[in-house]
Amino acid sequence: MQNDVSLKRLLMNIHTYGFGIVGGCPLTEADTVEVCERVGHLRNTIFGHSWTFTNNAALADSSYTNQGIGVHNDNTYLLEASGVQVFHCLFHDGSGGENVLVDGFKAAANLKMKHPEYYDALVRIPLQAEYIGDGHKVIGTINLLQENPITKQLDAIRYNPFDRAVLSHTSFEDTKLFYKALKALSLELNSSANEIWIKLTPGRVLLFDNWRVLHGRAAFEGKRVMTGCYLAKDQLNSRLRSIAGLNLY
Ligand SMILES: [Fe+2]
Repeated sequence: MQNDVSLKRLLMNIHTYGFGIVGGCPLTEADTVEVCERVGHLRNTIFGHSWTFTNNAALADSSYTNQGIGVHNDNTYLLEASGVQVFHCLFHDGSGGENVLVDGFKAAANLKMKHPEYYDALVRIPLQAEYIGDGHKVIGTINLLQENPITKQLDAIRYNPFDRAVLSHTSFEDTKLFYKALKALSLELNSSANEIWIKLTPGRVLLFDNWRVLHGRAAFEGKRVMTGCYLAKDQLNSRLRSIAGLNLY
């Protein structure tokens, strides 16, 4: 990460596959931040600039438990979800805790091929997502599938059953259609054919595109210390244009 050749390889891995891994990072939050700042400025959210946490049942977010977590995107309750999400496991003295990644764009493409009316419904019908707890009440009005206004290609998927609020603003017909479409998309997202499982080990920093890739994890035993942070999509796209020479809309 100390030269632009390695940085370009990381950026292209995130762009092409949805994720990239940097090895050999020292086991501190500050060193993890330093790696990520090679990509761009970190994004400050309700979780702070960056964070380090261990299992803590007192907090509201499911991340702080040791239970398994189904696949989802983060920040669906923010008006603009973070574009890059970072995980670095600093310590784990037990078993389990493998992370799963799912390509949301592939799942959405499968949905569009099998049920175009469901794909269109998820692009068109707005919903709300919310984070309520730990002193926060953040509510975003979003679309589950978000297309680029110029290319009409899928720009983002914002799927999170833990954050999704009730539909109280839609017509009866749209409500029925939305839930049928959501169920069909959920089947695609939870298909084992679309999963990659990764065991994060100390020293390996995982960076992935939160607008495309969903993540989850298996339950675990023992003490586990994770550090991480977010970057805005603008930071990633800026570097893809300036370092990797891509022409992105
Ligand atoms: Fe998450």
